[in-house]
Parts: sequence; C-alpha cells; structure tokens
Amino acid sequence: MFGGQSLANFAAAPVAWFRAISMDPISETRHLRMVRIWLLAVAGLIFVMVLVGGATRVTESGLSIVEWQPVTGTLPPLSPSGWQREFEKYQAIPQYRLLNRGMSLTEFKTIYWWEWTHRLLGRLIGAVFLLPFLLFLWRGWIGQGLRSRLWLIFALGAAQGAIGWWMVASGLAERTEVSPYRLATHLILACVIFTASLWTAQRLIAGPAIVASARVRATALVVLVLMLLQMYFGALLAGLRGGLVYNTWPLIDGAFVPPASQLFGLEPFWRNWFENVLTVQFAHRMTAYALCLLAVLHLADVGRSVGLGPAFGSALALATGVGVQASLGVLTLLHQVPPPLALLHQAMAIIVLALAVVHAERLTAARAGAGVRMAALPSAP
Ligand code: HEM
Repeated sequence: MFGGQSLANFAAAPVAWFRAISMDPISETRHLRMVRIWLLAVAGLIFVMVLVGGATRVTESGLSIVEWQPVTGTLPPLSPSGWQREFEKYQAIPQYRLLNRGMSLTEFKTIYWWEWTHRLLGRLIGAVFLLPFLLFLWRGWIGQGLRSRLWLIFALGAAQGAIGWWMVASGLAERTEVSPYRLATHLILACVIFTASLWTAQRLIAGPAIVASARVRATALVVLVLMLLQMYFGALLAGLRGGLVYNTWPLIDGAFVPPASQLFGLEPFWRNWFENVLTVQFAHRMTAYALCLLAVLHLADVGRSVGLGPAFGSALALATGVGVQASLGVLTLLHQVPPPLALLHQAMAIIVLALAVVHAERLTAARAGAGVRMAALPSAP
C-alpha cells in the first residue's frame, strides 16, 4: 500500500494543491483567507495558552522548573535519576523550603507537568506563527503594511517568552511566589498579542463595512481599552492574592467606597495602584461597573444610530459577556477563589476580550461615510 509510487503520489498531492492555489486568478482572496485562518489559529492557541497559564498559577506550579533552556528544555526528564535531579533543584528554592517542604516526588511531577506544558505550548505558538509566516512571505502573499504588522506581533511574542522567564526568575531567589508586577505584565502582554492577532485577522475580511458615527466607533474602542485595563487589575489582584483578603460584596471592607486613608496609605502614592490590595481590588470592581454601564449604553447607542444589524449583534454579545463576567467575578470572590471558578473567570475574560476586539474592529473598519471595508491590506508587495 505504501510502495514507492504511491508514497510519491501522496507527497506530491499537497505540492500540486499549493501550486494550483498559487496560480489561481482569484488566488489573492484565497491567500488572504489562508492568512486569516492562520491568524485565527494563532489567536486560538493563545487562548489555550492563557488557560494553561491560569491553571499553572492556581495549582502553584510556576516555579517548578528553575531553569530556562529554550532547546534542551523541550524534553522532560526521561529517567528516575533525571526526575530526582529536577526535584533537587526545586528543593533549593525558597518556595520549597518555606511552603512545600516534605512534598513527594509524585506531587512534584504534577506541578512540573503544568509548567512544562505551558512552556511547550509557548514554543509551539512560536513555531505555528513563524513557519507559515515565512512561507507566506516567500510566496509574496503578504503586502508591506500587513508584513510590518505581523513582524511586530512576532516581536511581541518573542518578548513574551523573555518576560515569562523574567517572571519565573523573580520567584527563585528570595520570594516564595512570583512578583505580581511581572505576573500582570505577562498576562497583559498575552492579551495584547491576542488582540493584535484577532484584530489583524478580522481586518482581512472582504466585503462591505459598517458605517457608524465617530461617537459609536470611539466608544467601542474605549470598551476595548477598558477591558485590557481591567484584565491588568485582575492579574495584579490574582498576583497579590487579593481575592482572599476582602471577600465581601457589594461592600469592600465595610464600605462601598473605602476611606482615602486606607486606599492611599502607601507612599509614594502610585504604589497603591499596584501593591495595596484594597486599592487594586477596589479599582477592579469600579472598572467592572464602568464596563457594564458603558457596554449597555453603547448597545443602546448602536441600536438607535446604526440599526439592528451585525454591529448590534456584536454589541449585544459584548454587553451580555461583560455582565456574565462581572457576575463570575463576584462569585469567585464570595467563594474565596476556588480554582475552578478562578479559571472560569480568567477564561471568560479572554472570551469577552475577543468579543470586544471583533466588535471594535467591525465598527472601525470604514471611516464614517465610506461604506467599503478597508480589508484589502495589499496581498502582494
Ligand atoms: C468585566 C469585568 C471583569 C473582568 C474583565 C475581569 C477580569 C479578571 C482577570 C483577567 C483576572 C485575572 C485572572 C488571573 O490572572 O488568574 C481577574 C481576577 C479576579 N477578579 Fe475579575 N474581572 C471582572 C470583574 C470582576 C468583579 C466584578 C469581581 C468581584 C467583585 C472580580 C473579582 C476578581 C477576583 C477576586 C480575582 C482574583 C482571582 C484569583 O486570585 O485567581 N472580577 N479578573
């Protein structure tokens, strides 16, 4: 069945298909469609990556691999002595000595596998981005504007790998967990790369664009930026383990708005926004309320001024998503951050971010008055 001839035919089929679509007169549209599918796949993998990252955090697995070896680290330990060596390295860091003393090798393997999977997925995303990108460049399918955008996304991805290690390194010497600043930077950069990939993929859709007023377009963008800010506060809160400190709702520490002396007790003033658990949790709540209100007002505005078309559909999905996400946040808090709810809250945040990106991109694809989508980022240089 797999004789020389049939194997050659088997290998020749994809090459023939590739040639055929490259020479097709309507291939430009097809090329853009393939580039779009590829970017959507990248965004999908980033979504999975954020979930695995969240699981790595809630299972406290992030410091189990104390070295960063980009190539050789791809393989996990393959023998009992290899596992023992990895375990001994972990036993030398403060997290083991102060929090996990007495952990068994089996328990260590569980936290190791989470961190290893997270890193492996990072390498996979790098390959899934770079290899097709180089192929598309070589075939001349990607025009100048799109090319610079994609290189920028690639550079952000490379920076994310470095920031991941910078984050892990912060928990190896003196602390028993990673720095909340670095954790939040790592999550927010993942969200920015996700946003950029999905936005660019959506920009490649051909067809008529939705015409909307400057106010409607600006509000959609403000919701998107507020979502990113809210996710930053959420990640800081998670890093500070703030959900375990003030878990009452709607009051926080006995008041709807805590006294300024408590909100801004740290010196200098700016530190409160990053290190004061009360301030960060208060900011996370207030931004959630602002998002809910803005999403509903925006929905009404889109319905009134743009009509009941696709923009209304995405505004409705966005407002519903924000409401569900805020309710999940309250539940997570009231139940004192059980891992399944914490993970669901994190996953839903990415889903709502995706809704915000699709909606904002849809509304900003055309300038008011011009009904044609600017999709056609040129496909040939
Ligand atoms: C649109 C609204 C919201 C968004 C987009 C959002 C997003 C996020 C994100 C991205 C995280 C970080 C998760 C992680 O790094 O594991 C987080 C954490 C958290 N959020 Fe929200 N959130 C929202 C509303 C709320 C509300 C209303 C509350 C409660 C009143 C809340 C309570 C929490 C808590 C307690 C954590 C820390 C969870 C942990 O330690 O794992 N969130 N949020």
